[in-house]
Amino acid sequence: MDGRDLVRAVKDIGTERGRRAWISGWRHRRADAVGLPRRGTERARVPGLLAGTEPRPGGGVLRFARSELLVRVPAGGGVFGGWDGAGPTPSYAVVGTGPEPDPRAVLEPDTGGGWRVVSERVTVAVSRHGAVEVRTPGGTVLRRELPPRWWEPVSAGSRDGDAAGAGAGGDAEGAGAGGGAGAGGGGRWVLRSEVAADARFFGLGGRAAGPRLRDGVYRLWNTDPKGGFAPGDDPLYLTMPVQLVVADAGTHLVFHDNSWDGRVVLREGEEGAGSGMDRPGVSELRMEGGPLRCWVLVGPPSRVLQGWSGLTGAAAVPPEWALGYQHAKWGFGSAEEVRRVAGGYAERGFALSAVHLDIDHYDGHRVFTVDRGRFPDLPGLARELGETGVRLVSIVDPAVKAGDPLHAAGQAVGARGAFVRDAAGAEVRGEVWPGECAYPDFTDPAVREWWGGLYEERLAQGFAGFWHDMNEPVSFTPFGDMTLPRSARHSMDGAGGDHRAGHNVYALGMARAGWEGLVRLRPAERPFLFSRSGWAGMQRYGGTWSGDVESSWEGLRASLALVLGLGLCGVPYSGPDVGGFGGSPSPELYLRWLQLGAYLPLFRTHSAIWAGRREPWEFGAEVEEHARAVMAERERLRPYFVTLAHLARRTGAPYVRPVWWGTPEERRLRDCEDAFLLGDALLVAPVLECGADRRAVRLPRGRWYDTATGAAYEGPGQALLDAPRGRIPVLARAGAVIPVRGASGGGVELEVWAPARGRTGGGVVIRDPGAGFEAGAVERYTSRWAGEGVVVADEAGEVVADVVVRGV
Ligand code: NOJ
Repeated sequence: MDGRDLVRAVKDIGTERGRRAWISGWRHRRADAVGLPRRGTERARVPGLLAGTEPRPGGGVLRFARSELLVRVPAGGGVFGGWDGAGPTPSYAVVGTGPEPDPRAVLEPDTGGGWRVVSERVTVAVSRHGAVEVRTPGGTVLRRELPPRWWEPVSAGSRDGDAAGAGAGGDAEGAGAGGGAGAGGGGRWVLRSEVAADARFFGLGGRAAGPRLRDGVYRLWNTDPKGGFAPGDDPLYLTMPVQLVVADAGTHLVFHDNSWDGRVVLREGEEGAGSGMDRPGVSELRMEGGPLRCWVLVGPPSRVLQGWSGLTGAAAVPPEWALGYQHAKWGFGSAEEVRRVAGGYAERGFALSAVHLDIDHYDGHRVFTVDRGRFPDLPGLARELGETGVRLVSIVDPAVKAGDPLHAAGQAVGARGAFVRDAAGAEVRGEVWPGECAYPDFTDPAVREWWGGLYEERLAQGFAGFWHDMNEPVSFTPFGDMTLPRSARHSMDGAGGDHRAGHNVYALGMARAGWEGLVRLRPAERPFLFSRSGWAGMQRYGGTWSGDVESSWEGLRASLALVLGLGLCGVPYSGPDVGGFGGSPSPELYLRWLQLGAYLPLFRTHSAIWAGRREPWEFGAEVEEHARAVMAERERLRPYFVTLAHLARRTGAPYVRPVWWGTPEERRLRDCEDAFLLGDALLVAPVLECGADRRAVRLPRGRWYDTATGAAYEGPGQALLDAPRGRIPVLARAGAVIPVRGASGGGVELEVWAPARGRTGGGVVIRDPGAGFEAGAVERYTSRWAGEGVVVADEAGEVVADVVVRGV
């Protein structure tokens, strides 16, 4: 039991839930003791020497003494490498059958007895020992993967002398090519990679310590940290084996398509270390099992993310209203209180897009039910709020109370019922809010279909959006992992597997079930869905949020880290609990959080049932006034957010981007973690420190205007900007054309920031095409000086009337 376990255990002592959680924890431990294969004697295996090759479309197979490697370059760039027979599919992340191979890419001999595949954007070279290098077309090595090493159970009859401990290049006999099971099975493995000495690591899902991932160990196991997290907490709810590696020489994304538990050990390199030689950065991936297969995408961040969205699916575009301000609360307690809070926003003239109902609106915390005593007429409440433009969003937890009618209905799904079973065939039970629960197996297509149909009840209650929670999945226990036993069985879409493989894709399956169900139920509407946990590819079904971020300045910083990091993993729509989840932020902290949140895709206040309130007027008159200003600005920028949502779908570019997103020169800003680009046009510099009333802002190249004062600053460089209580620095790029809500509150208006003299600028606008799945037309505008004024022209070259010119 570690310190954290102890805190959990002490908290739960003496409560009925605590007692049940203890029992549940012990049951899970026992289930694993009998249901998991014992780790006996193991044997280490490395590929050994190259023995032959076989050409295949886009590359070929390299056969080593004890393994084989499939190398494939897909059309459009990137590299796929799969060891031991692992191919790109089946995969929970990759859409369809994956990209077609590039017919022009062929396997050819390289120097030193190795082989390579040369393509337009990348060269991959494999040494005769199985080291793999990914190089730019100019020959710069972006990534060097050393030969992998597997540890496999020694099968009966083998001599112990062959067992674990064989060093690198060790020569253990026995497991031939294919022994590691391409679809994932037995062996643990480790893969050590080197990157440039100046490289920085980003991604791995939502990491509180990011966005730059410093030296340390990052676990790949979706985890509820229980009780609020800050930068030191890892892992969190949403992990994924996706890294973005940024160096002067280039950027690449690497994805190890394997949902098992693992650890990534990162060590940044050092330029001119030791005797003046560069020490490379190192990323070592240690997986508990599953296939060893990997995608590498290279190019500038925009191209890499475009490739990633092509590979794993385009991001869902939230409905327009989900780009406005939303208020959540665990513990509204009654319909009356919901009315009172929504009325409070209306009376004070604050825009409110949605109210989120937490588990307290359920009957006995049971999913897909309503406490009719406290919420006697939810459809009526939804209608009433709808008339004032406010939607209702429902929390949806996956665990189903044992013995409930819903449980009985689930048990009737298919031949084996909907719920996860243990190795002996009995339903796995866990402890969650409603008490003892069963867990739908979302890796089973029939279960997904059943679950998706259940949203009909939610729609009938008047809910317009869905907030998936507790789907790591959580089972309370005072010790060990707060989840299902690792031995629990999953369908894995017919392939069969246990929770070691199923855990990290559980929430992804739930998101898919919800999304597909909603599309079936309301085919003409884009669902609004966001989920606490998930995995690579989850953007297809919606977004995520921070989870229970601590109400502290560190929590504020962590919430920005999460949004930036997730965006770089292809999940563009997310945001924190403004104010933090579990505490009572000071007025200053609350305000700074709101000022940050207003520029993030999901803009939502939320707090725990035991925590303070989050309405802006609860923090005094000064905060109320400043909150009004920033919330009004968010409303004004709504058309820009709509554009960014559609661009994310089309291009893979997240709304919120690191300041080093743009040109190769800007990559030098990759250590800058306290500011971000919102689309191309805005640079947002939140205040993340208590008491600060000015802050330094690092500027990418070009002219930037402080949007509050109109003052111009020239980048690259650093500017010291005022950040009084009333605002955070937001800068606009010279030349930018930004769609904003017109002054009268009506249609879309174009705001243009003067280009520097002698230069031009521009911007893209995609208007809200309505509630359906239409893509929306892309309008492109350019800006330029014309005499003493600045004009904006459309694609036909026609000058657009009614633009608001700023910065002149
Ligand atoms: C945990 C979630 O992270 C939080 O947002 C929610 O309020 C509670 N569960 C209760 O449902």
